[in-house]
Amino acid sequence: WIAPAAALLIGYLLGSIPFGVVLTRLTGAGDLRQIGSGNIGATNVLRTGRKGLAAATLLLDLAKGLVAVLLVAWLWPGEQPLAAAGALIGHCYPVWLRFRGGKGVATLMGVALGLGWPLGLVFAILWLGLLAATRVSSLAGMAAAISTPVTAAILGDFDLVPLLLALAAIVLWKHRANIARLVDGTEPRVGGAKPAPA
Ligand code: G3P
Repeated sequence: WIAPAAALLIGYLLGSIPFGVVLTRLTGAGDLRQIGSGNIGATNVLRTGRKGLAAATLLLDLAKGLVAVLLVAWLWPGEQPLAAAGALIGHCYPVWLRFRGGKGVATLMGVALGLGWPLGLVFAILWLGLLAATRVSSLAGMAAAISTPVTAAILGDFDLVPLLLALAAIVLWKHRANIARLVDGTEPRVGGAKPAPA
């Protein structure tokens, strides 16, 4: 049981590093949880007006998911799904922030890439394509998240489908305030007005 537990723990510890909060604090851009939607992800970092910081948050939140999966694949081949689950749970529910974490989109892309590059590629195309088309970050992120179990099934990777369904469900659950705003027609577009805190 040691390898599965260690894979989950390594994933969780890496995933729980709140890069958005750390970077905004270190650079004096303020407390991210008091800004915009209050979320700790790159979309909300963008609302500080610091594009470079938002890009760094996106890349680091993605990288921690990718590194968790690749590291565990190297240490204990076959245990990477647990590292993927740990990393997403860590990002969404970090102990360091009293379990009030992010919405998981960038980290899910990182773990998808680590589990199989086609999963990551489809995710990236959908996410960036929908973001460019709609400028609604939450909508693009949720659609990309939902794509992961579908892509795995199309590729015949049926072992990954239950895990990716569960991870996509976490991402949707974390977006429930965004879903309510989308239904109301009040979800802000990237570059537009700020949403009310969740
Ligand atoms: O990845 C987070 C994004 O989907 C939504 O962020 O700050 O607009 O709630 P936010």
